[in-house]
Amino acid sequence: MKKTSFAAFGGPDVLHLIDADEPHAGPGRIRIAVRAAGVNPVDWRLREGQVLGAHPIELPSGVGLDAAGVVDEVGEGIHGVEIGDHVFGEGASTYAEFAVLSAWARMPAGLSFEEAAGYPSVMETALRVINEVGVRPGQTLLVSGASGGVGSAVLQIARERGIAVIGTAGAANQDYLRDLGARPTTYGVGWTERVRGLGPVHAALDLAGSGVIPELVALTGDPHRVVSIADLNAPEHGVRFSGVAGSVSDALADAADLIARGRLHIPVEKSYTLADAAAAHIDSQAGHTRGRRVIVI
Ligand SMILES: NC(=O)c1ccc[n+]([C@@H]2O[C@H](COP(=O)([O-])OP(=O)(O)OC[C@H]3O[C@@H](n4cnc5c(N)ncnc54)[C@H](OP(=O)(O)O)[C@@H]3O)[C@@H](O)[C@H]2O)c1
Repeated sequence: MKKTSFAAFGGPDVLHLIDADEPHAGPGRIRIAVRAAGVNPVDWRLREGQVLGAHPIELPSGVGLDAAGVVDEVGEGIHGVEIGDHVFGEGASTYAEFAVLSAWARMPAGLSFEEAAGYPSVMETALRVINEVGVRPGQTLLVSGASGGVGSAVLQIARERGIAVIGTAGAANQDYLRDLGARPTTYGVGWTERVRGLGPVHAALDLAGSGVIPELVALTGDPHRVVSIADLNAPEHGVRFSGVAGSVSDALADAADLIARGRLHIPVEKSYTLADAAAAHIDSQAGHTRGRRVIVI
């Protein structure tokens, strides 16, 4: 089968499309014929040799955690999923024609493979950080970096739970945030004053890692009401860095339910072929993805 692989840590040019042996579903796993693979920032962080403590890998390595496709092998001990089912989920080396998944759910009717591949990791992360920051219905959550994949999910889960959101994004994404139910403002010079002008903030999420932890603490008045997923210096300010994934299966079930009810939609900014994985990484790494980027197999 065809698969994206890298044999040394480095820039996008270390990615190669290779011929590889097909993986097989061991106990508790399924294999899918991949139709689309989600592109997450962690994919290029791992390619660069970052975050290996949380995600140990051996070289040569495949790329990609998220995927959607058609089940074609069911491992021992697995019930409730059949060959031919359309599923989305998380596994390993998903930029490939076949991949093994460790967590999955049936795709909601009407969802394309391309869209479905964008949900697994961002939904797990969004649900985790909303839970960890402890924001309640009726309160206001400030989201720094609200227009990316995780931000898009956070805004729609918050809307569903009756949590008001103030979100920061670039000028081109102000209407996008408004459409997701948030009060938007731009980041950059004067942003804290613009946020104050939009009202009090009970809790805050740093999703962009743009060095704003002290400002988020000042705006909420309490470091325990701030959580970051992108700034490793957060603990220096008494702020939790959230890096340990929760249940992907629960997140997929929540995603499927919200999508089926028309309450969640994460747009695909751009699709790429497997041969264009390096371009997908370059674009993701530029840091201005609206929603998600996807590799279509
Ligand atoms: N710790 C964990 O468990 C975990 C899990 C998932 C992701 N992450 C990390 O969290 C980050 C976000 O992930 P993602 O998938 O949502 O990324 P993404 O889809 O690539 O989105 C990045 C977003 O950052 C925004 N941005 C860029 N500069 C900004 C600034 N100065 N202030 C505010 N926003 C800014 C961009 O908005 P504009 O286009 O509007 O400028 C863009 O929408 C990444 O660094 C990723 O590695 C960590």
